[in-house]
Amino acid sequence: DKGNHRHFMEKEIHEQPEVISHTLAHYLDFANGTTRKLDLPFDFNGIERLAISACGTAYLAGLVGKYWFERYARLPVDIDIASEFRYREMPLSARDAALFISQSGETADTLASLRYCRKAGMTIGAVVNVRESTIARESDVVLPTLAGPEIGVASTKAFTCQLSVLASLAVRAAAERGKISAEEEKALVRGLSETPRYTNQALQKVERQIEKLARELSHYKHVLYLGRDTNFPLAMEGALKLKEISYIHAEGYAAGELKHGPIALIDEKMPVVVIAPHDRIFEKTVSNMQEVAARGGRIILITDEKGAANATVETMDTIVMPDVPEIISPIVYALPIQLLAYYTAVFMGTDVDQPRNLAKSVTVE
Ligand code: F6R
Repeated sequence: DKGNHRHFMEKEIHEQPEVISHTLAHYLDFANGTTRKLDLPFDFNGIERLAISACGTAYLAGLVGKYWFERYARLPVDIDIASEFRYREMPLSARDAALFISQSGETADTLASLRYCRKAGMTIGAVVNVRESTIARESDVVLPTLAGPEIGVASTKAFTCQLSVLASLAVRAAAERGKISAEEEKALVRGLSETPRYTNQALQKVERQIEKLARELSHYKHVLYLGRDTNFPLAMEGALKLKEISYIHAEGYAAGELKHGPIALIDEKMPVVVIAPHDRIFEKTVSNMQEVAARGGRIILITDEKGAANATVETMDTIVMPDVPEIISPIVYALPIQLLAYYTAVFMGTDVDQPRNLAKSVTVE
């Protein structure tokens, strides 16, 4: 049931504050400001590496997870696209753990990777949305996302719930490995607890502006997305979302890679979406935007108040997001990129919930 919404995707985008809240409550004890103890079959102190693999949007959630596990928990993470992981014959250690991320829990390549790690004797965790799925059944521990059924083929709420689980796990790992103090854990949990409020605020604040912008974007043939740090996976997710539902060609790049190739594409026909909250590397992204502007590229900047004030470039549009704690930034910034893809597809008149050639659950290799 779509309720008052035109599409399931629109409905699912708007459900995010609520389902993120349910998901976080499963992993965090808000009253005490701590992460919950999980019944894990491995010890975050006993492993040297964590291997994450998944496909598509779930893979991009895993890539954000790598930044978090390495930054907060000092735990090295290998992250792979499942269809690469299962064939590339890398060394695996039975002492380490593997984590698989899947909304459906049925994706063929992800499942095959899981079985591959099982054979190698690794301990297996699965971040899944469908509790009764094959991937859930075959793992040692299920780390559920509580997104509820996701009907739209383009993943939205499952993605932000996957991010919520990974962020909570990274903070838990950091605490168990003694890499953060009790005070720091409290501060991170407090930040995470504000995700529902900020995602809600973001929807209120930017949705109508993005709808207008999307009308203009729907006239272009190509779009480039740029971001640094955790906004780099988000740039790839923005591009994936746009191409799969609007059929506009889009690419996501690490902003620092611009000058190593993609800058050759920049002209007035190539809008560039830059995801850049005012963080410690903001100035680096500003210089990338200047490179784009100098070549006539049209910039769509997604940032916060401080970023908007310090961007010093002319933009086609600037979307000003609420000021959010660093750890939740990729969760909150996922919403404007989902909305941009959604409304662009609506203006293109495509079948938003059932894009051509795509299936919700990819059970073939
Ligand atoms: C993109 C999308 C796909 C899935 C991918 C993995 O919007 O939905 O890229 O993320 O097919 O699916 P799951 O998570 O079910 O393993």
